[in-house]
Amino acid sequence: MSAAYRVENRSSGLAARSEPRAAWRRGYDEVRSETERRAAPLTAEDQVIQSMPDASPIKWHRAHTTWFFEHFLLLAHAAAYGQFDQRFGYLFNSYYVAAGPRHARPKRGLITRPSAAEVGDYRAHIDDAVRRLIDCAGPEQLCEVRRILEIGLNHEQQHQELMLTDILQSADSRSVVRTWAHRRYSLATLFGSIPSRIITANVPSRFARRTAGHRRHS
Ligand SMILES: [Fe+2]
Repeated sequence: MSAAYRVENRSSGLAARSEPRAAWRRGYDEVRSETERRAAPLTAEDQVIQSMPDASPIKWHRAHTTWFFEHFLLLAHAAAYGQFDQRFGYLFNSYYVAAGPRHARPKRGLITRPSAAEVGDYRAHIDDAVRRLIDCAGPEQLCEVRRILEIGLNHEQQHQELMLTDILQSADSRSVVRTWAHRRYSLATLFGSIPSRIITANVPSRFARRTAGHRRHS
């Protein structure tokens, strides 16, 4: 069982928030790398597909989960943090009204820029800043940092599940299936690789309410 899941699975109590900084860094890295692992077999073009209004492009999932850490963690708690791109808040906010206006959900497939590569740069920028914050936050600040970090990791794992369903929806397109076949990558391989802990995750009750409505509002 991974460090990330131990942190997440115990997050309903104080134990998770008292984990050492190194455990939170490992947990953060594990969840973030899982998102990239799921996107890796897709081309940049694959990642822009929005096959139906309720689905989201894979590139958008990668950016939105990153924006969540930037907006709610770094901009709020990392004094020296330099924002990657002020325009990303509009593009990658989902339904957080207090966080400002947002791009229309049914039109997320029209977001051709930033590119998939630039979203990768965005993710790397945020990852570096989050790791620094975990390492450098003072003892009092660290408690709040861990609380938001915990929410962000649960949020990203929710989107990892949505990525799989959205990829499956996109697979109705023969061109997408051919692309995956060419890369010797099949849906069976993708879904067969889901860690059982993702399916059986014990979501803390205070997040469960958000999870219940998340598919509609992602
Ligand atoms: Fe979300």
